Amino acid sequence: MSDVKLKIDNIEVTVPKGTTILDAAKKLNIKIPTLCYHEDLCVAGNCRVCVVEQLGARTLQASCCVPAGDGMEIYTNSAKVLLLSEHNNDCLRCAKNGNCELQDLASEYAVDANRYLSVLTESIIDISSPSIQKDDSKCIRCQRCVRTCAELQAVNALTAANKGKE
Ligand code: FES
Repeated sequence: MSDVKLKIDNIEVTVPKGTTILDAAKKLNIKIPTLCYHEDLCVAGNCRVCVVEQLGARTLQASCCVPAGDGMEIYTNSAKVLLLSEHNNDCLRCAKNGNCELQDLASEYAVDANRYLSVLTESIIDISSPSIQKDDSKCIRCQRCVRTCAELQAVNALTAANKGKE
């Protein structure tokens, strides 16, 4: 398999063709935050937490699913703004306070949640299932729960609603 050579944050790296930008960054010990990405699940590219800037590209790239390309120039400082845009940030009253991956990421990357609260969903907690408690105001639509249910549990009880045409 051939290699590709690219720059991430102005540092040159060579990786096998097909390596994602995320994995190329890991090789340089550059940490890009991720959320829907999980090494035991298929790659979905849903949450956009891992987006990076590619010089010359019109849009930000989801580093977990875009392969590194020869000659690419990648900048990793663009990811912060998307993290909490649809999330109810009432962390202090949340049962997961202090044990939350999203909260940890926001803290690590100094995301100011109060700047991104324009599209919140009303908090209605669905407890109709004995197995699942769901609050749409906490959902950032990464669909990791959907893929975990399908791929790790082999149950397929969950799906995404109000996404795309459906
Ligand atoms: Fe890459 Fe979610 S971690 S899109």
